[in-house]
Amino acid sequence: MNPLEQALKILDEGGVVGMPTETVYGLAARIDREAGLKAIFATKQRPFFDPLIVHVASIAQARTLTTGWSPLTEALAQAFWPGPLTMVLPKTPAVSSLITSGLTTVGLRCPSHPVARQLIEDAGQPLAAPSANLFGRTSPTTAEHVKREFDGKVFVLEGGPSSVGIESTIVSVSDQGDLRLLRPGSITREEITRVLQNQQTSFRWIEQIEKIEKIMAPGQMKHHYMPQRPLILTRGPMRDGDLLQRIRSRLEDLPEEVEGVRLLKPQKVERVSWIALPNDPVLAARQLYQALREAGESSADVLALVWPLERREGAWLAVWDRLRKAASLDLEH
Ligand code: TXA
Ligand code: MG
Repeated sequence: MNPLEQALKILDEGGVVGMPTETVYGLAARIDREAGLKAIFATKQRPFFDPLIVHVASIAQARTLTTGWSPLTEALAQAFWPGPLTMVLPKTPAVSSLITSGLTTVGLRCPSHPVARQLIEDAGQPLAAPSANLFGRTSPTTAEHVKREFDGKVFVLEGGPSSVGIESTIVSVSDQGDLRLLRPGSITREEITRVLQNQQTSFRWIEQIEKIEKIMAPGQMKHHYMPQRPLILTRGPMRDGDLLQRIRSRLEDLPEEVEGVRLLKPQKVERVSWIALPNDPVLAARQLYQALREAGESSADVLALVWPLERREGAWLAVWDRLRKAASLDLEH
């Protein structure tokens, strides 16, 4: 049996497999296998209130899962699928509430990675797949990351390193044409706006307010994507001694947990490992999780990264969002 056949067999029997995508690797199960869906949550140690994204092979398949396909969703799909855009739309009964955490909406994405596309097509069913990491931890961008995350207990399809490197942009689309950015990704709000304006499709962005965000975007916890060791952000370069001193003076203020997710705290504050990322947002996204993983495996007590103010919006927004959530402490706050 070749790896693809093996993966299909596991999925058919109600199991989970590691699936490469262009964003990050996913932990996939068929949406018509309840055992597989439950195995996703058990394997990741993920709480049931955090909904899963459903991966489809085509627009036609997406349309079987939502009652909300409109000229606006069609325009978005035509422009950005296959690719790193997830649309949150009203679900049909075909989508189990296990997938949506009881919500009436479902997140749909058509990935562009050839191995993912082949797997979904051959399964003949959409595949639910969260990122293939333990809950709250850094997402995997190679097959090796997934194997190690689950101690070799998950079968993983090889697909090379993920080219985008961070999770898809998530946008909720209402029947009235309202768009909400639930999670920034490599497809920016500016890019979506430009494409829709060019096509003269009507839409409007609704700004998130904290309260709505909680209801509409479960799973977007403040702390997420955490590496093995505490990550500290600074606004500008600092000498190691100064940095360590600043961290020590802030240790007492750090909470044990944030929104139910345990915060990583340094045991000692003696050695720091500085992380550097490329000066280009596309390359920085591609390397981010690998860099966090590698630094997390070093023997340093804390990881540190200089993150200037101007890298917090536009094309940098998605990388900043992940860093902010991965960090145990931002020295500017
Ligand atoms: O790039 C990606 O999107 C990757 C790859 C594997 O496709 N998947 C991914 O899944 O990042 P995950 O489970 O790590 O993130 C899914 C997030 C949830 O935490 C939640 O915030 C949001 O998607 N989500 C899913 N369904 C939703 C819904 N119906 N309403 C609001 N948010 C939803
Ligand atoms: Mg995830």
